[in-house]
Formats: sequence, structure tokens, C-alpha cells
Amino acid sequence: MISQEQNDRLTLVGPDKPMGKLLRRYWQPVGTAADLDKNPVQKVRLLGEDLTLYRSNKGEYGLVAERCPHRMVSLEYGFPDDRGIRCPYHGWLFDKGGRCVEMPYDDRINPQSTYKERVSIKAYPVQELSGLLFTYMGPLPAPELPRWDALVQPGFDVVIQIHKLPCNWLQCMDNAADPMHFEYLHAELGNYTLARQGKPPKMVRTPHLKIDFDRFEFGIMKRRLLEGESEDCDDWRVGHPLLFPNILAVGGKDAPTLQYRVPIDDTNTIQFAFRTKRRKPGAAPIPTTVDHAELFDKNGRIVADDVPAQDMVAWVMQGPISDRTQEHLSASDQGVIMFHKMLLEEVAKAERGEDTLGTVRDPARNQPMISLHREGAALRPFENQYVSVFDQKTVGAL
Ligand code: FES
Ligand SMILES: [Fe+2]
Repeated sequence: MISQEQNDRLTLVGPDKPMGKLLRRYWQPVGTAADLDKNPVQKVRLLGEDLTLYRSNKGEYGLVAERCPHRMVSLEYGFPDDRGIRCPYHGWLFDKGGRCVEMPYDDRINPQSTYKERVSIKAYPVQELSGLLFTYMGPLPAPELPRWDALVQPGFDVVIQIHKLPCNWLQCMDNAADPMHFEYLHAELGNYTLARQGKPPKMVRTPHLKIDFDRFEFGIMKRRLLEGESEDCDDWRVGHPLLFPNILAVGGKDAPTLQYRVPIDDTNTIQFAFRTKRRKPGAAPIPTTVDHAELFDKNGRIVADDVPAQDMVAWVMQGPISDRTQEHLSASDQGVIMFHKMLLEEVAKAERGEDTLGTVRDPARNQPMISLHREGAALRPFENQYVSVFDQKTVGAL
């Protein structure tokens, strides 16, 4: 149980909130290149800010304020230009730095006018990496955009799966610091859901004998020992990382996945799951696909018959912002407590203007990639049930 003030400090993401300031110090996914192929101008909402994401006619990405500062029309209906994005109403043109570089009527009637030089809109940098578009909304200079191994290592096929979730971001991340939930949320609820569908069980509820958590350069390594495993197994020796502050890296060496849980605002989150699968020797690469997944069925329920959906049940069903003033934490919550403590420590560092955990400043550290430790085979006792057979939909937040 924590105070309301602490819960607010941990959860609220607006630009003037302590956690909002911490999260802005990390590059966050804001869209995909494939979606901009379909429509090069998109309205997005990120960390409580309404913004316009676009690709110019020359292929440069930009992320600017939602509204044109002339008469405040939304740039959602703007269109790309060689130099940036043009407002649909009177044609003012903004470059990727948010500078107004053309006012068609004013420029025509008074070519000497310097008015446009005094007009700008908010703008954030955008970088594309492996089909994801990342932005940085924190204090400049921006750190390096981390090149996690799963994002850039060659020889893997990729599916980017996107879910919008009506809940605060921290519920998704608390779940990543809570290994024991596998027994009931995945094994038992999963089997129960399948039974109600008339299907056989997929998982075995193997008891956790112990769990542990280690801080490392980029976050927390979480480890577990399951009944029937020996202490030299990967689950206990290696584990897999929670990348501070809002990514889970999971999935084993042949199918590593990154799950970015990005706050849309205080009560909505978008998850970008970057799922990969090692390509068989000699096989042709499969082009990356982007899947915008529906969370709820036609009855407004989440069908909890696969691992990601089961996690999403837990995240969403804690409410828009989980009321942590009413919780009763127990022995299985040591990872959650550790994670919250780290978040508050790093919030304080951000308030002092210091670099926070996992900030990559040295370009050499980022090249050619940042390799992460993971289990060779995740959760061996479940191997035959599902993990050894890679399935884009089943490897979730274990
Ligand atoms: S409202 Fe944008 S140019 Fe007039
Ligand atoms: Fe899970």
C-alpha cells in the first residue's frame, strides 16, 4: 500500500508531472513506417500531448503539435510537402523543427515580412529504426536511441503488434516485475478459458519455488526457479530483463520480443510488441508486418486464451489507474516494490537534471547493438506446451 501522492508520482505522465518528466528522457515508439506508408499524416497522442506525426515528400519524419497556430485547425488533415507539413486551411508550412517556413498569402502581399520567423509550433525529433518510429520529448541533447539486439540483429523475421489499452502504463510494467502471476493468470485462467471454449488445456501450472531480481545497467533482470528445475537452469541463472522504465524483453534467443508500453495519457497505454523469429537457414526473409490488434471481442470482453491477452486482462482490470492506496502487497510482490523504488529514485534524478538509469550517451556503447541476456529456452517446464513452438500470439509477458 502506498499513499495517493506516491501513486500519482508513479503514474501520472503529463509534461509537468515527475513521472512524465522521467519518461520523456527515453526514446519512445510513436508509430510505424508501414502505417505512414498507408497515410503519411497521423494524429497521435503521447504522454498526454496531442501531436501530428508525418513523413515529408522527401522521406523525413516529423512530430509536431496537433494544431496549426494560425487559426488552430488540426494538422491531422494537413498534407506532406517537400519541406515538412502544410496546414490544410491557409497553407502555412512547418518544417520538422516546427518552424513556419511559408505563409502563402502573407509572403505574396509582403515578401519582406519576417512574421513567419516568429511563428513556430512544438516539435520533437523522430528516428526510424527497424520499422518503428521513435521520438524523444525530454531535455536536449537527446541521448542515443538504444539499438537493442532484438531490434537490429540480422537473420530474424519481424511482426509488430500494436494494442491500445484503457489503463495506466504502470499496470503493464508492474506485471513485468511479477513472475509468479504465470501460475494463475496464464496457466489456470488460460486453461479455464480454453475449457469454456471446449478446447484442451495448453499449460501446466508449475509452482514457483523462488523468485529474485537483480539491478543491472539497463533495468532489472528477473529470475525464477520452478519446481522440477535445477538451480543451473536459465530461468534461475539468467532470467530476462525489464528494460527501465517501460520495456519488457522476453522470448528466448530464437524469438526475442520487445514490448514497449508507451503512455498515451494517464489512463491509456499503447503497446508496441516487436516480435521476432530466427529465420531458418536458407529461408527467404519475410517482410515486416504491422498488426493493429483488437483487444475486446464483440461483447466487450478480452478473450483470455493466449498469453498476451491474459496479461492484458490483468493490466486493464486493475482499473484506469490502479488504486495502490488499497493494495495489500505480499511475498510475491518483491519485484514490484523494487521497481517502484527504482522509479522514484530515477524521478528524483530527473528532477535534479541528471541522466537516469539506462541512458545511452556513448555512441560506441550502442554499436552495432546492445546485447541482452535472456534464457536460452524460456520456462522449460512449459516448453512442450507452447514456448518451443514460436507463435506470434502466444509469447507474451511471462
Ligand atoms: S489555420 Fe493553419 S494556415 Fe490557417
Ligand atoms: Fe504474463
